[in-house]
Amino acid sequence: MKGIILAGGKGSRLYPMTKVISKQLLPIYDKPLIYYPLSVLMLAGIRDILIISTPEDTPLYERLFKNGNSLGLNISYAVQKEPRGLADAFIIGESFIESDSVCLILGDNLFYGQDLTKVLNTAKEVKEGAVIFGYPVKNASSFGVVEFDESNKVISIEEKPSNPKSNYAVPGLYFYDNKVVEIVKNIKPSERGEIEITCVNNEYLKMNMLNVVLLGRGMAWLDTGTPTGLLNASQYVETIQSRQGFYISCIEEIAWRRGFITEEQLYTIGKSLKMTEYGQYILSLTDFKKRVIK
Ligand code: DAU
Repeated sequence: MKGIILAGGKGSRLYPMTKVISKQLLPIYDKPLIYYPLSVLMLAGIRDILIISTPEDTPLYERLFKNGNSLGLNISYAVQKEPRGLADAFIIGESFIESDSVCLILGDNLFYGQDLTKVLNTAKEVKEGAVIFGYPVKNASSFGVVEFDESNKVISIEEKPSNPKSNYAVPGLYFYDNKVVEIVKNIKPSERGEIEITCVNNEYLKMNMLNVVLLGRGMAWLDTGTPTGLLNASQYVETIQSRQGFYISCIEEIAWRRGFITEEQLYTIGKSLKMTEYGQYILSLTDFKKRVIK
């Protein structure tokens, strides 16, 4: 399975913060926002990753992650000239996806919770069709909204409806089989001029191949769409990290725990960052291993 992180867009809802810098590079407490969605792909065991961003910002991501080899990943990059919609990722990424299935995650979505790895693996195991997620929110009309019956069968999916049929928003994390590449070619731009991911999901729904996995209250899906959302996300990460001593979305730690890199490589990275708490944390892991942790 391939992974795509969509990290473009104008970020205009966060101006002036994002006037000259990509939103997905803003810090969430101690690391750039894009670390969080990258960590989700890594937890899903996905190692071939395409990062799509604007012409101005793509070189910054290349500087940040290079080819991904230090994390045991293959990271490549592609430019989206204009924000033509989320589903554009599959047009831009066609030659990267080849004949594989694909997971798309939005570069500004932050997930954290006990069962995350389990949830991701379940979604990854679905060989045909699409898997989306449903997350209860108070302001469903700001998102894609999924309606489902008692057996969790999807009835409808709508983009930012004024009268939402449920309080379950669809987070920016989607798993598709290879059909998505053809489906997206027939999607017409919406009134706001975008190729909507919700239209792609509706096509899967029509084929009776749209699965929804509901995320429970123990899972955090945090909003980074407003200055307050960004601050809250930072506070959340700081609170958990300070309390538990475990870091959220430390990509080097995940690379090591998943066996993408060796302990020696982890140690080398930790040493290069040893002047920071982040680096000290990485260094502490090399001894930590002796203790029993999940
Ligand atoms: O966050 C989840 C929501 O994301 C879903 O519930 C909605 O169904 C989905 O349409 C999307 O809604 P948003 O209104 O949040 O989408 P937005 O246009 O803000 O784009 C989300 C991120 O993707 C944003 O950081 C910018 C980036 N983006 C967006 C577009 C349209 C791109 O990189 N390229 C694009 O063409």
